[in-house]
Amino acid sequence: MNLYERIPNNVNLSEDKKLQRALEKWLPNFLDWWQEMGPDGFQTKDVYLRTAISVEPDGWANFDYVKMPDYRWGIFLKPAAAGATIGFGDNLGQPAYQEVPGEFRNSLRRIIVTQGDTEPASVEQQRELGKTCPSLYDLRNLFQVNVEEGRHLWAMVYLLQRYFGRDGRDEADALLERRSGNPDKPRILEAFNQPCDDWLNFFCFTMFTDRDGKYQLSALAESGFEPLARTCQFMLTEEAHHMFVGDTGINRLVKRTAQLMKEGDPRELGGIPLDIIQKHINFWFSYSLDLFGGEISSNSADFFAAGLKGRYKEQEQYEDHLVAEQNFTMKVVADGQVKEREVPMRNALNEVLRGEYVRDCEKGLARWNKTLAEAGLSERLYLPNPRFHRHVGEYATHAFDIQGYLITAEEFERRKSEWLPSIEDREYVRSLMQPVTEPGKIAGWIAPPASGVKGKPFEFEYVRL
Ligand SMILES: [Fe+2]
Ligand SMILES: [Fe+2]
Repeated sequence: MNLYERIPNNVNLSEDKKLQRALEKWLPNFLDWWQEMGPDGFQTKDVYLRTAISVEPDGWANFDYVKMPDYRWGIFLKPAAAGATIGFGDNLGQPAYQEVPGEFRNSLRRIIVTQGDTEPASVEQQRELGKTCPSLYDLRNLFQVNVEEGRHLWAMVYLLQRYFGRDGRDEADALLERRSGNPDKPRILEAFNQPCDDWLNFFCFTMFTDRDGKYQLSALAESGFEPLARTCQFMLTEEAHHMFVGDTGINRLVKRTAQLMKEGDPRELGGIPLDIIQKHINFWFSYSLDLFGGEISSNSADFFAAGLKGRYKEQEQYEDHLVAEQNFTMKVVADGQVKEREVPMRNALNEVLRGEYVRDCEKGLARWNKTLAEAGLSERLYLPNPRFHRHVGEYATHAFDIQGYLITAEEFERRKSEWLPSIEDREYVRSLMQPVTEPGKIAGWIAPPASGVKGKPFEFEYVRL
């Protein structure tokens, strides 16, 4: 079969010779990367996966057994709306950009490369997880997330190859060359260089770090560069499942821990104690907050002014799309104290987006706490203060405790094992990670899901080993 007929797309790939030539070179490299860095040990197995073959409601979720290297990674943009205009910033109301505007070329390329880099990075981080899956249902979900992150890479590579010429092609190649956690050629953002080598980390990652993806993609889905907006709109449909995996994964873990707490000490009963879950929340929440960038940012102002990156639900929840006059009050450190400072709103848009994200995370916490309450327990999980354990922005050069009070670097060092997973915590969690691969069986540290995938029961053979 013609190579391009195997690639599901709605970008007229079979007619676009230039794009075909670019993909011809990139595609074998992508498949090599997938073999080298994709899920280790499962490449020849049949997995019950959903594949998007069109953007129609009945086309984007086709379920069947597939071997992952044969997955049909496709290129999809949400269909164009006629007469699209730039929805915010200095060029509000002008026709949307259909090609890259010269003066914003570097900014746009940087936005796309930064987003694109996260997609293969997460596949690399999760590479070993299949070997310790708690059930076939979870194993399948892991692989679903992995192949879709692969497709998200394709989505960004399409934009680079189609709209950025030579340097876009070079950037597309570089996306396959960097490696998560490799000090010589690391991934661009730090959360994507952190190990994600046990299932507690995986669920926290998909809950908190994929959720950052939701907010970045939502802001880019507003973009006046229409191909980017339409690409991100389609990616968001897939991203929702990744967050579901994380959110329900932690909820099932909390449920199991709560059951064990009523029988005794979860640690003696092979469960994950709540304090270890809390420390992992602290770790991944704080690293994910960094992904939004500095609190006060001239980039955010420039991207907004240019119409490249909007706010979350820009059209739906705001009336003033110019944002020329407003101010935002935020907390900064000055003279050794946390103080309020007014900044022009356009410079505070990273912080505004981060605020939306935090509110969304709080809903997850409420669901997990409901599980604890329903089990009759008074313990609760919480989000750390957003100043805690930050590596980017206003708070990165200071130390804060979990409630956001300024402390000395020495005190932070002394107390950090109260707040963040210690080596012993990580080793304990790892000791529980024994694979369970018999259909219908599940590991002792997690509760089974409320339902299976696409109407199939939990006992279904989601992966044929
Ligand atoms: Fe993604
Ligand atoms: Fe994702």
